[in-house]
Amino acid sequence: MEILQTAAGLQDRTESWRRAGLRIGLVPTMGALHEGHLQLVRAAAQENDVVVVSIFVNPTQFNNPEDFRLYPRLPETDGALLADTGCTALFAPTVEEMYPQPTLLRFDFGTLERVMEGAHRPGHFNGVATVVSKLFHLSRPHRAYFGQKDLQQVAVVRQLVQDLSFPLELVVFPTVRETDGLAMSSRNRRLSLEARAVAPHLYQALTLARRLVDEEQTVAEVQRQTLDFLRQQPAIELEYFDISDARTLQPLAPEQPANGPVALCLAAWLGGVRLIDNVVVER
Ligand code: PAJ
Repeated sequence: MEILQTAAGLQDRTESWRRAGLRIGLVPTMGALHEGHLQLVRAAAQENDVVVVSIFVNPTQFNNPEDFRLYPRLPETDGALLADTGCTALFAPTVEEMYPQPTLLRFDFGTLERVMEGAHRPGHFNGVATVVSKLFHLSRPHRAYFGQKDLQQVAVVRQLVQDLSFPLELVVFPTVRETDGLAMSSRNRRLSLEARAVAPHLYQALTLARRLVDEEQTVAEVQRQTLDFLRQQPAIELEYFDISDARTLQPLAPEQPANGPVALCLAAWLGGVRLIDNVVVER
């Protein structure tokens, strides 16, 4: 596995791969890799000739400087994992390399980012769209791999690809979970033992909500019972639990049963660590 640290170096590589007719798969990450990331890398290795994995803790998508500072960084372990997983080139640039100057361009995804992560993390999706656009231009992938764990991110990136005509296929993979249901996340490493013990209640709440949606309870009733369940865990500080149309991510009318594909999404703080999770119910 080759390690590339400069934008020019990555561009050179992708140029020559393209000229040789090779198919390029890209997996953008912020490192502290876990099985959720690795499944994306394995899929990319199966479906393409070469795989670029980027590891870049992107400062422009962090609205909270403390979260950026404390974000886990494990370059050695990550490198070893990737070398065993079929990654051809690891792109690990510095902040100066990716942002030689502050960007002036700003992305606005309209209603798509006025809810959930966009509403609670101002500027977050501008940062995501900026770095993902840069990575797309530098690596010119045929396919780019993303996880459903970040459902709204997938919606934003899909819109980005559509609006800017990026010539690539977006491949989305289901959320990989620990055996107790907790969605894998780099931030899980920051959980205390106590917080880790209560964290599975987030997925339990989503499972309860999914059952209530399947039973055709009204959206308000699903909301009420799920919040009741979460309130029994004082260590969980809920930021939002939204019941939305899975295609538009807009909230559903409270007084009716949920109709169409439904996205059940939440964000919560556990002992100073912010976690998100979601479940999509096809109906
Ligand atoms: P990061 O959180 O490192 O995630 C990288 C990719 O792995 C994302 O597409 C994410 O959805 C996926 N992923 C994370 N946890 C997962 C899980 N448990 N199951 C399946 N997929 C999972 O998302 C980002 O980085 C950044 O915003 C990025 C896109 C790299 C832009 O900076």
